[in-house]
Amino acid sequence: MVTTPEIAIDQVSKQFRGGSLALDNVSLTVEKGEFVSLLGPSGCGKSTLLRLVSGLTPATQGTITVNGIEPANARELMSFIFQDATLLPWRTVEQNVGLGLELEGVARPVLEKSVNAMLSLVGLENLAQRYPRHLSGGMKMRVSIARALVSRPRILLLDEPFAALDEMSRDRLNEELLRLYAEQHWTVLFVTHSVAEAVFLSSRIVVLAPHPGRVAHVVPIDLPWPRTADTRLSDAFDEQVTHVSRLLRSVQAAAPEAR
Ligand SMILES: Nc1ncnc2c1ncn2[C@@H]1O[C@H](COP(=O)(O)OP(=O)(O)OP(=O)(O)O)[C@@H](O)[C@H]1O
Ligand SMILES: [Mg+2]
Repeated sequence: MVTTPEIAIDQVSKQFRGGSLALDNVSLTVEKGEFVSLLGPSGCGKSTLLRLVSGLTPATQGTITVNGIEPANARELMSFIFQDATLLPWRTVEQNVGLGLELEGVARPVLEKSVNAMLSLVGLENLAQRYPRHLSGGMKMRVSIARALVSRPRILLLDEPFAALDEMSRDRLNEELLRLYAEQHWTVLFVTHSVAEAVFLSSRIVVLAPHPGRVAHVVPIDLPWPRTADTRLSDAFDEQVTHVSRLLRSVQAAAPEAR
């Protein structure tokens, strides 16, 4: 039996009005349960690709399907987590997490149950009544993850979610994300600038080249699962980081002057 890929990107180009060819003939298939990271220099079209998959922006050429259907019709399968955890400062943690369901008109008891479940999933059940100003950066990020998960997505699109965090918090959240990923069987498309983060998290890394944005390398990461803090201390991890760093450097060196 042939299974439908969770995300299928077929010969996709994106040309913005004003001339910039952000993506040129990109093809990529993500199977259910894969954790794929997009890595590449600034301006190579990582965020654009994520937005195309999310259905927020249409492709200029080519086709994208999510679970076999057009992205715009598959929105309820996906959650998008942006770089800055923009929480509403006047709402508590639980009110922030419940906002989407509230806007959908979900009944209060159902809403509370979902919100509580997600807060305990990300380990914030004791902070439900706090306001964002009383949270650390890592906690805020966990709130925004809980907010994205409350609609029970099966696909996560994450655009540099941990970029603003210090290395220790980032490492810890990476480990938590993988724990949840193992539990929830998501398919993940993850954008990062960090080679080490991409290697730690991914089953596959896609290295993009800029001007125009295109797929330069696809690197399977065959480190054993589950991955833990110890994974980062292994020689195999170092080897993968070195390998991917070299690919990234070659892509950057070959890129024409930005703009
Ligand atoms: N709305 C837009 N209108 C015009 N050009 C855009 C728009 N969004 C992105 N671009 C251009 O498309 C290209 C890819 O941008 P994109 O934001 O996808 O890159 P990125 O890889 O996410 O970069 P970064 O690592 O800096 O976040 C860039 O040249 C950018 O200037
Ligand atoms: Mg971006």
